[in-house]
Amino acid sequence: MRALVVGSGGREHALAWKLASDASDAVPVVPGNGGTPHAFPWNGSDLLALAAVCEEQRADLVVIGPEAPLAAGAADLLRARGLRVFGPSQAASRLESSKAWAKDFMHRNGVATARYGLAQGSRDALALARDLGGPVVLKYEGLAAGKGVIVCDTWDDVLQGIADLESRHGANACYVVEERLFGDELSVVGITDGRTLALLPPCQDHKQLLEGDRGPNTGGMGAFTPVPGCDAALLSEIERDVLVPTLAGLAAEDLDFRGALYFGLMVTENGPRLLEYNARFGDPETEVLMPALDASLLDLLMAAAEGGLDRVAGPGTTLLPARDGSFVDVVLCSEGYPGPSVGGRVIEGLQRTNTNDTWVFHAGTRRVDGAIVTAGGRVLNVVAHGADVASARARAEGALSEISFEGMRYRHDIGLRPWTSHRRIP
Ligand code: AMP
Ligand code: GLY
Repeated sequence: MRALVVGSGGREHALAWKLASDASDAVPVVPGNGGTPHAFPWNGSDLLALAAVCEEQRADLVVIGPEAPLAAGAADLLRARGLRVFGPSQAASRLESSKAWAKDFMHRNGVATARYGLAQGSRDALALARDLGGPVVLKYEGLAAGKGVIVCDTWDDVLQGIADLESRHGANACYVVEERLFGDELSVVGITDGRTLALLPPCQDHKQLLEGDRGPNTGGMGAFTPVPGCDAALLSEIERDVLVPTLAGLAAEDLDFRGALYFGLMVTENGPRLLEYNARFGDPETEVLMPALDASLLDLLMAAAEGGLDRVAGPGTTLLPARDGSFVDVVLCSEGYPGPSVGGRVIEGLQRTNTNDTWVFHAGTRRVDGAIVTAGGRVLNVVAHGADVASARARAEGALSEISFEGMRYRHDIGLRPWTSHRRIP
């Protein structure tokens, strides 16, 4: 059984590592990075060229990691060529690629989420923000390189945010304007065929660059699982208010979602609310989830790709088995990140191989003349297992202390975030 992974980040390295250990076989990664041993070139956009690589590699299962090829219709095209694919259709990936469509999907299907409105143009957006009353969040409808969401504290922030978005996207741009929610963020990732949802352990990521969750937003500086505040009662509320209505919506709207569905939640005092869907595995969440998962990923993804996930996971919503203890992922990033960052620096100390309690998943790395050099941005994920979050982090920091490259930085407080929600009993 030959699985192939599409993408080039830490998520794809972690998926390929897990699939290879399930199949005891090499897993090609297209285009991969400096850490994926069987990498095949691809420019990231030519879908016919991607299909050709999948066919040449005789892939029995193609696992699509990133959002961009999904939004461009890669899953549909590969399926039309007869390949078995784990990744949602282009229509279903609108859950991620269009914020406005996703909010309307939530609303139509009774998924618990923040109150919102859709605005065309700055004047409309301002009026909506005023009508919502209280703090709001502005979300640009379109690709914005991670700069499309502005969380506002004050009315001045709203004025400034709209002025910023207008200067970048013009006075006629479309926005989601929504009520700002307060509480604890939680990432829940499920493997689904559109009818059955098999959940990986809930986890949290740290989006901000600096310790104490301060500084600019990044693609993610680390992640951990399990989350102490996420108990069985909270999970069943999430299931009732978010997961079940989502599955019902996918079925009612006849959307072909055979892939990973990511729920970005805010746990508020009034219960869980969905902030966003991603139509793929999260990054850096996947890097802690793959070592934590105590089941065959290959069997799950194959069954989901064939539309028969219940055969492997059981019907409805289930929680997949996880290893005991805690898992922590510390991201090592380049100088300058998340702004323009420096690449091309040689990475020393990568001799260590993955063990039963420590893993290194590459993100922004490449091989040059036998050496592994940084490619800028997020460079490596160092993941460790321990009896609790403190020992897992200590073990990760021990492993990463062997690694060095000029300008390397990371956060020392991954997993230290307190759980603050005091939920009303529903
Ligand atoms: P999104 O791209 O929708 O995930 O938003 C990025 C980040 O903005 C989220 O991870 C949250 O930290 C924050 N955010 C989005 N929507 C809200 C909201 N309604 N209330 C508070 N924070 C939000
Ligand atoms: N960690 C959130 C994401 O993958 O977008």
